[in-house]
Amino acid sequence: MTTTPKTPSTHGAPLSVREYEPLARELLDPVHHDYFAGGAHDEITLRANEAAFARLALVPRILRGRGRPDLTTDLLGRRTSMPIVLAPTAFHRLAHPDAERATARAAASTGAIMIAAMLSTVAVEEIAAEARKTAGDARLWFQLYVQRDMGFTEALVRRAEDAGCSALVVTADSPALGRHVRNDRNDFHDLPPGMVCENLRSLRADEPGHVRQVDLSPELSWDHVRRLRAMTGLPIVIKGVLHPEDARIAADLGMDAVIVSNHGGRQLDTTPATITQLPRVLDAVGERIPVLLDGGVRRGTDVAKALALGAAAVAVGRPVVWGLTVGGQQGVERVLGMLRDELAHTLTLCGCAGPAELDRDMVVREDPRW
Ligand code: FNR
Repeated sequence: MTTTPKTPSTHGAPLSVREYEPLARELLDPVHHDYFAGGAHDEITLRANEAAFARLALVPRILRGRGRPDLTTDLLGRRTSMPIVLAPTAFHRLAHPDAERATARAAASTGAIMIAAMLSTVAVEEIAAEARKTAGDARLWFQLYVQRDMGFTEALVRRAEDAGCSALVVTADSPALGRHVRNDRNDFHDLPPGMVCENLRSLRADEPGHVRQVDLSPELSWDHVRRLRAMTGLPIVIKGVLHPEDARIAADLGMDAVIVSNHGGRQLDTTPATITQLPRVLDAVGERIPVLLDGGVRRGTDVAKALALGAAAVAVGRPVVWGLTVGGQQGVERVLGMLRDELAHTLTLCGCAGPAELDRDMVVREDPRW
């Protein structure tokens, strides 16, 4: 048997985004790994997100002489280095002591937009400061779970505005917490002592140092979104859209973008894969507002498929967490860099000078019955 010797340049170093997950698993407390990796109930949607990308095939164009592709993208009036955004994910301190500070620096040095989670373990002001220190100009959006206490919700919006966030991402798929069997089995329901959601510190003088519980409410409605629209001049992005009719309502209410998302399979299990649902949402509002997608994006080819169907950009959740766990800022930079390079390579192989040259005819569904 012959074996190929490993070259020093590749030995041990992850060569794809997926390879970061087992490395992160080795480093993390198993309970925290389960929190990051897991999904709701039977994790059918969690698996479906990635599986659905694999069922789509890219149909490249040839001999078009387009040269090196340009990935720069305009999103909500701002230029970014690529159509790949960091999805909001909670509790980065569980992954790495530098927590969201490291993630913010990596996003900034890559020129990518970071959506800072409301449930961050670093305050939004500090996240913005790290990004600015790194790149001079923070490309930061703030993700919000609307709280029943609209006074507190408004205070969070003002903090995000004052910190320099340039858009508000309202997570709309969470009228209740998704049920995670792994967390239940591990009895994991809260951050360990010493870690808190810094954005949830009470602002009331009679509650010094008190940290509020996140307050998800089944009463959450478009009425709350209307109130947010009146409350802030920031662009508002609705995250968690799967039904085309909801996308239409969002556009009618003056929302600036939607994210087709099933929360990475962490909310309602058995929802469709996001890439499966994307064309329906695009047919409803694609001409009116940008449509983004997240869930299961692990390769540049996945990004290209979403863009070819018409998405303005994609967001990645777990890959960023795995990169952060393995290498802090550098780990996140490596993960983002891999996705960027793979996307550029994919565009070159598809004969495209940039994302705008991808189109729907370049994606087909591999039908297992053929
Ligand atoms: C999330 N996600 C999420 N979304 C959100 O709006 N607010 C949040 O606080 C969180 N927290 C969170 C924690 C963890 C550990 C994960 C994995 C995900 C969902 C996230 O924004 C995104 O929708 C998915 O992560 C996308 O799927 P992938 O890229 O992880 O497959």
